[in-house]
Amino acid sequence: MNVTIFGTGYVGLVQGAILADVGHHVVCVDVDADKVERLKKGIIPIYEPGLESLVKENHAAGRLDFTTDAAEGVKHGEVQFIAVGTPPDEDGSADLKYVLAVAETIAQHMESHRIVVDKSTVPVGTADKVRAKMMEVLASRGREDLGFDVVSNPEFLKEGSAVADCQKPDRIIIGTESEDTEEAMRELYAPFNRNRNKIMVMDVRSAELTKYAANCMLATKISFMNEIANLAERLGADVELVRQGIGSDPRIGYHFIYPGVGYGGSCFPKDVQALIRTAGDIDYDAKVLKAVEARNYEQKTTLFQKMRTHFGDDLAGKTFAIWGLSFKPNTDDMREAPSRVLMEALWEAGAKVQAYDPEAMEEAQRIYGTRDELTLCGTKEAALKGADALVIVTEWQSFRAPDFDLIKQKLSEPTIFDGRNMFEPKRMAKKGFTYYSVGRSTQG
Ligand code: UGA
Repeated sequence: MNVTIFGTGYVGLVQGAILADVGHHVVCVDVDADKVERLKKGIIPIYEPGLESLVKENHAAGRLDFTTDAAEGVKHGEVQFIAVGTPPDEDGSADLKYVLAVAETIAQHMESHRIVVDKSTVPVGTADKVRAKMMEVLASRGREDLGFDVVSNPEFLKEGSAVADCQKPDRIIIGTESEDTEEAMRELYAPFNRNRNKIMVMDVRSAELTKYAANCMLATKISFMNEIANLAERLGADVELVRQGIGSDPRIGYHFIYPGVGYGGSCFPKDVQALIRTAGDIDYDAKVLKAVEARNYEQKTTLFQKMRTHFGDDLAGKTFAIWGLSFKPNTDDMREAPSRVLMEALWEAGAKVQAYDPEAMEEAQRIYGTRDELTLCGTKEAALKGADALVIVTEWQSFRAPDFDLIKQKLSEPTIFDGRNMFEPKRMAKKGFTYYSVGRSTQG
């Protein structure tokens, strides 16, 4: 099938690459001419395992192309994906200006029937807005004869495993009330729907809400577990044992119940806020979601609070080694990352930071530029030199078995603040570390 994708961010680019890889002919449209040129050369703007080779191979095979020419894009695909960003407004609601601009573009240039697919995470009711915008433009062209359908087909990929998630989805949600559209979408996704039926067809609004409900449920699990960890700390219990104890109940499960320094990234914080806002718009007080959000906001300061308890309020003149800047491992994404909240609090308190991340160093440089209070180090060991403590913010695999003797040697004091519970508190105490974790026995 011929497919056009508007937006070459995480969702659009991965979607384009995996659809092209199974044989569809995909054109990706982006307004950023530099980005389009780089993509044609196989230069990928994000770090995502497997994506670069997929893009290069399929581009070389002529199944995946990139353009800034929206008219060409509209002409190409019978299926038109909208995969542009929906950044939060000041009030937390999702800003739909890019989504509606694409709807307008499609309606301006289309000459035959089009299936318009909302792939971006958009609030319930967006498909109606997309439809209204397109009808308005078609009317202004005097082309109300042109048929189209608007589908909600939310994406559930995770950064860091985006390609694999898209190639082997848990479910494929298709929100449409049209049988023809359903059939076209089934054909499009048939290569990904082989070993069991993953396609769930529902009305558009239910599909739109499914996306938010999934992310908000996961965010709720995390905030709940962070609350239990904070309680465990104060009650003298070990959250790691509690985690295993409750995870063994299949109704709860082991997934997504790791306490830590709060959830970050471009999805959970934004989507929880957006659903709170959507609820507010219809005069419903989303009490659970507000609590999830409030717990997460506070949880991002948990390491800083512990550091202040240990070192005293005045952190001026102190230097801290930070391992991990991205909001989670296997990505260079620092959006809403807990590391940012921590570093900014430390700087505010007069401390300096020596940071290392396996992938996010360029991103940190882009965000913070060159400044006295931040040294970006080439290795995790270099970050330790002369620091007053090591602070672990992201659980990268390469941090799991460090050389503890070297850490001790390099730090001015053998103290570790671990925001991801990577080590056994007892073992750390034996090694002579003062070890702070989240919800385990607080100090070695
Ligand atoms: C999330 C969802 O997991 C995807 O299903 C969804 O498609 C995506 O949002 C989206 O809407 O686009 P992502 O933001 O890439 O994916 O990251 P996750 O792996 O879900 O992690 C989110 C945050 O939760 C991270 O900061 C992570 O450290 C934190 N987390 C996760 C915990 O603190 N504890 C856990 O047990 C699990």
